[in-house]
Amino acid sequence: MHPENKSEPAAKADGKQVRPARVLSGIQPTGRFHWGNYFGAIRQYIELQTAGDAFYFIADLHALTTVRDPDLLRRLVLDAAIDLVALGLDPERATLFVQSDVPEVTELTWLLMTVAPMGLLERCHAYKDKKMRGLTADAGLFTYPVLMSADILAYDATIVPVGEDQVQHIEVCRDLAGTFNHLYGDVFTLPKPRLVEAGGRVPGTDGQKMSKSYDNTLDVFEDLGIQKKKISRIATDSRPMADPKNPEDDHLYSLYALVAPEADRQKMAELYQRGGFGYGEIKKSLIEAAAHFFASARQRRVEIERDSGRIEAILVDGAVRARAKASEVLTRAKQACGLSRRQGIGRRP
Ligand code: ADP
Ligand code: TRP
Repeated sequence: MHPENKSEPAAKADGKQVRPARVLSGIQPTGRFHWGNYFGAIRQYIELQTAGDAFYFIADLHALTTVRDPDLLRRLVLDAAIDLVALGLDPERATLFVQSDVPEVTELTWLLMTVAPMGLLERCHAYKDKKMRGLTADAGLFTYPVLMSADILAYDATIVPVGEDQVQHIEVCRDLAGTFNHLYGDVFTLPKPRLVEAGGRVPGTDGQKMSKSYDNTLDVFEDLGIQKKKISRIATDSRPMADPKNPEDDHLYSLYALVAPEADRQKMAELYQRGGFGYGEIKKSLIEAAAHFFASARQRRVEIERDSGRIEAILVDGAVRARAKASEVLTRAKQACGLSRRQGIGRRP
């Protein structure tokens, strides 16, 4: 039996042991961010930076299981950091850092590995899916959820905003933390997932789920000329122009609804229901609304890139803050399981 979740930030009657809400999430730098990443995840992460102490990191260790080009990986990590700040992540409010800048996490991964049942990891979808497709997986992919658990537990995170696909990994994290606590005492704070679904499933230019694997993305910071071409090429249905249409059935409308002001979105929905419009005008509206929606983020991005050293300073500062917390938790865990020769070091205050 695992200890019950003690992660809620409840003040005890005796005034002791108040654990503040701590939001944490990680984003893999495996490509440039697309609208699915932004509306499905990043936007909510940024909104949550005001909900409590927030930690956000760029999961380069996880990305290493797929990105095998070192220069590309370096570039993607930097781009991810710049993109996040341009999109509104505030380094004064949230701690922004790169996963591999906190080596305590990989040490903690080993401790968790010793309580991770093979069967549990075999059921995790990243590994299972790859195996089912007949591909060979490496141990990095197999143990991916253990590293993810260490990411979360190292910072005593209580709330982990993630997409649906990551909920299983939070369950693994709770499982491992529970087993460790059961064996060694009250070491880890059990986190809870916070499902981010405000954006729902963002469709790609072909109507399937937007994903870099399907080559159907609209990227947040891509060149506007390229974006215009992508939108112009979106396939539309061939029913007569005069026919009324259900906006909810059309991915062009779904994309428009994400970036258009509410009043314009409503007008567009009415236009669909009335019929008598051409898809060319809808595409034009989408191109304009998208440019407008991301204009200030684009502007901020240009300014951040111009100020060389600023993003590096943010990441260094983030790593210092993150390491301070992670080393406290690692010491606590090592002391509890007998890896520290000095008793009492790292006990929870
Ligand atoms: P991709 O499918 O392009 O590889 P990732 O798996 O790296 O995207 O996505 C990271 C996160 O972004 C996901 O956990 C999910 O929360 C969100 N996300 C990605 N694509 C979409 C989408 N089409 N709609 C909604 N959310 C998405
Ligand atoms: N696995 C997550 C993804 O692919 C990224 C990630 C790594 C993460 N470590 C994490 C998310 C810790 C939340 C908490 O999207």
